[in-house]
Amino acid sequence: MLEILKYPNPVLKKVASPVTDFNPELHELLDQMAVTMYEANGVGLAAPQVGKSIRAFVIDIGGTEEQPEKHLFEFINPKLSNGKGKIAFEEGCLSVPGITEEVSRKKEIVVEYQDRFGNNQMMEAVDLLAVAIQHENDHLEGVLFVERLSPLKRRLVRRKMEKAITL
Ligand code: CO
Repeated sequence: MLEILKYPNPVLKKVASPVTDFNPELHELLDQMAVTMYEANGVGLAAPQVGKSIRAFVIDIGGTEEQPEKHLFEFINPKLSNGKGKIAFEEGCLSVPGITEEVSRKKEIVVEYQDRFGNNQMMEAVDLLAVAIQHENDHLEGVLFVERLSPLKRRLVRRKMEKAITL
């Protein structure tokens, strides 16, 4: 299992670099990220959260009401487009333990990405899967979900986060 970096680790603020080598090291990292995500009971984990500032994340929303069966998705060099509609979910993040807040995001998105072998793929995602993709994609831009909140909520959350890490 990999160590999950917590706020305010500076790696979480960096814009991640594109993946160029689809080699065994990448596959190993993706495998370890999946194990780490499942162990931590998360539905998504982005490479920067385990200290690798590259554009890759894993998602499995299985085990939820919306999707009972497990299904692992790997997204490399994702590009999101065609966002439509709005949806609000109570989100949390493995890098911001103990904090959940409702975040407003696009209800539908299209994501173009590469798989672990470098093949181009495209997917239309809705609801929780779309939310998870947007949350993880934010990690590649150095953005945490708490930065998507209203300024007032953000101030309250920031105080909670600061308290949490000074204990
Ligand atoms: Co997160």
